[in-house]
Amino acid sequence: MKPVRVGLIGLGTVGQGVISVLRENAAEIERRVGRPVVVTHASARDIHKTRPITMDGITLVADAMSIARDADVDVVVEVIGGHGIAKDAILAALARGKPVVTANKALLAEEGNAIFGAARKAGVPVAFEASVAGGIPIIKAIREGLAGNRIESLAGIINGTCNYILTQMTVKGQPYAEALADAQKLGYAEADPTFDVEGVDAAHKLTILASIAFGMPLSFSGVACEGIAKVSAQDISLAGTLGYRIKLLGIAKRAETGVELRVHPTLIPDDHLLAKVDGVLNSVVVQGNAVGQIGFYGRGAGGNATASAVIADLVDVARGLGSDAKHQVPALAFQADAVAALPLLPISAIESSFYVRLRVADEPGVLKALTGILAAHEISIEAILQKEPRGGEDATVALITSRVVEHRFDAAMAEMCALPFVREGASRLRVEHFK
Ligand code: NDP
Ligand code: HSE
Repeated sequence: MKPVRVGLIGLGTVGQGVISVLRENAAEIERRVGRPVVVTHASARDIHKTRPITMDGITLVADAMSIARDADVDVVVEVIGGHGIAKDAILAALARGKPVVTANKALLAEEGNAIFGAARKAGVPVAFEASVAGGIPIIKAIREGLAGNRIESLAGIINGTCNYILTQMTVKGQPYAEALADAQKLGYAEADPTFDVEGVDAAHKLTILASIAFGMPLSFSGVACEGIAKVSAQDISLAGTLGYRIKLLGIAKRAETGVELRVHPTLIPDDHLLAKVDGVLNSVVVQGNAVGQIGFYGRGAGGNATASAVIADLVDVARGLGSDAKHQVPALAFQADAVAALPLLPISAIESSFYVRLRVADEPGVLKALTGILAAHEISIEAILQKEPRGGEDATVALITSRVVEHRFDAAMAEMCALPFVREGASRLRVEHFK
């Protein structure tokens, strides 16, 4: 039977993964689709670059737009990333009635409302399984597998680079910069790795997850975002002593007055599922009102793992080629006219427990003053630890508070930091107990 002809825009980590996995699993994929799925055209910035896989049988072009416009391409796969040419190529393909598969979470999170609008107008799908959590089929799971639920919350480790760095720092004591360089070498990091370490990539993914979980438009600007750069080896070690692991989490939660969307380093009890997710692995825990808590786990980045998700989309798209748009699964899980904005809570209004680390002078009355401030703000202490000062050094105090609204905690923290015996460089991180 006539093959489905794929035009692949981007031949980097993911693009090469797509070619290799399509070749390796060609027979299985053909049995699933009913016809072969073959990359016939591909584009990269430098088409003469030596790449580890052969490009035999593929027409290589430098101009990505020519693939989007080529009448001999049935489906366009965009894996270059970013906004400029990626967006133009996607819109050009849609305008010509070609389905699109993309892994580009940055583009979808920030400009997805327009892109999905264009896809609806054209009556063809934009599929994006690889945009969140690499190889884990979390989009399909939430959009289709959990369609019978009202989703209450989800929380996940959704950036492989940060999880790799934090794991290396925790388990091997590797310095932050070295672990980041390794993640880049392994092909996990974004073209601009500050997107990873500053939490922006996780915020992009959280935006997509929240949209399909709650039926709201993509709302990237409403995500409160903090990265991992300030997580120190000392915090990792103190958290460990207190019974916690530090992970970069993306959290989306329905609260009484709106929706919380936040990405930040988080202390997680060390016996929780998410605390055991190490290296480049990702995991997402979803709370549905019918199913209860359900967890997903797998490789969150890397060529073949991400190709697994891209190809799942290709199979879906190939099976539906030529079908009536009205009968396609809605891209963002809810019917387009039922997608509704929800109030987004500012981070100051969310409720959480907090971990605090303070360096203090070794003097009588220090603990009394610190605990007095917390008591005055009606914040109780769940755990407290003081490291014995050595050789005339300052002492270190670490504590975990009860749950408190963030702006109330911040007021107490500011008072503690203003005490004359508290040194500069205090640290404060949120704690999630999943209760
Ligand atoms: P890479 O940087 O490895 O590859 C990017 C590719 O795009 C390269 O082949 C590059 O060409 C090509 N390219 C860049 N600009 C142009 C252009 N103007 N015209 C044509 N080709 C161009 O990126 P990744 O494969 O890592 O990521 C691709 C996408 O997948 C991104 O959106 C990323 O966020 C997403 N993603 C990545 C994952 C991963 O693990 N790496 C996982 C999940 C999603 P050349 O080779 O000549 O430089
Ligand atoms: N840079 C991303 C990560 C790639 O580290 O998770 C996968 O989306």
